[in-house]
Amino acid sequence: MADAVVTGPLSFTGKYLTKLLIVSGKTVAGFTNDSSRANPFTGQLDLVRFTFDDVDAMASAMRGAQTFYNTYWIRYPRGEMTYERAVENSVALFTAAKLAGVQRIVHTSIANPSFDSPFGYYRGKARVELALKDVGVPHSILRPTVFFGKEDILINNIAWLARHSPLFLIAGDGNYKIQPIAVEDYAALMNEHGERDDTSIVTDAVGPETYSFLELVELIRKKVGSRARIVRVAPRIFYVASLLMSPLVRDTIVTWDEVRGLMANLLVSNEPPVGRTSLRAWLSHNAGMVGVEYHSEVSRHYGKRSS
Ligand SMILES: NC(=O)c1ccc[n+]([C@@H]2O[C@H](COP(=O)([O-])OP(=O)(O)OC[C@H]3O[C@@H](n4cnc5c(N)ncnc54)[C@H](OP(=O)(O)O)[C@@H]3O)[C@@H](O)[C@H]2O)c1
Repeated sequence: MADAVVTGPLSFTGKYLTKLLIVSGKTVAGFTNDSSRANPFTGQLDLVRFTFDDVDAMASAMRGAQTFYNTYWIRYPRGEMTYERAVENSVALFTAAKLAGVQRIVHTSIANPSFDSPFGYYRGKARVELALKDVGVPHSILRPTVFFGKEDILINNIAWLARHSPLFLIAGDGNYKIQPIAVEDYAALMNEHGERDDTSIVTDAVGPETYSFLELVELIRKKVGSRARIVRVAPRIFYVASLLMSPLVRDTIVTWDEVRGLMANLLVSNEPPVGRTSLRAWLSHNAGMVGVEYHSEVSRHYGKRSS
């Protein structure tokens, strides 16, 4: 029996949260698709496989826990893994938490979710938020924009491209905005919301700095000492270039929806920032590491999975 249950304890956000929970003396159980990953919490984390088709089994793993911290979602559909399925799996997790008597759910959504969005990611996130409200367990819905941290994909892979390519293509004018939050700050926010009382809350979770995408690329380029030439191109050309490059890194570098979502200014918030870490300062500290290796979404999440 654990005090807290998390998703993705060996993955990205969930790993930072798991560390905080363990340091604060909590016992932790974590759902994953892939228990073969390196486990820095041996002996301190009870690993459980997701069993979305067996809600009772997931409820058993959650029984006795005070809080369920949810980060489960997919970045883009691939093969049988669709947003529809990710919504159903999210509902199965909330139902299991309710059955298990969990007192609070801290859920990771996205800034600017909407049922009317042209993007499946944002529509799916809106549906999951509604499903959580319907489950009737007190909750916090946290809406981040994009995370930065050692294992992140977007900032790291911008740096990787800047290091390895003589040209850096930008879709459109590059004036669309992005307001990233440090993964450590976000994990601390989740931890804090897990300690709250029984009122439910919905809040954006963004960092202190807003950049235009062009400014962001220029900053990263400078910090990693890249001499890549930044070239603005039509969004379709940018996307086709990313499709041509994807097999070289055995990944889907970016989807068309992600290009359009970025350009639609969805990665910013009008609410006050909650993250305190400056991306600029973080990049200065991590310049020697960021973008040295490419981070692949496909190898991270389409190797072994439950359903
Ligand atoms: N990364 C960002 O910059 C960002 C920005 C805004 C919002 N968010 C939201 O923040 C949450 C956490 O994001 P994250 O990047 O930290 O995620 P993550 O740790 O890589 O994954 C979170 C959980 O979802 C599972 N998962 C992810 N992709 C999957 C797939 N394709 N098939 C099956 N399971 C999959 C993972 O399974 P395993 O445990 O097996 O790894 C893990 O349990 C998500 O809800 C995401 O939508 C992320």
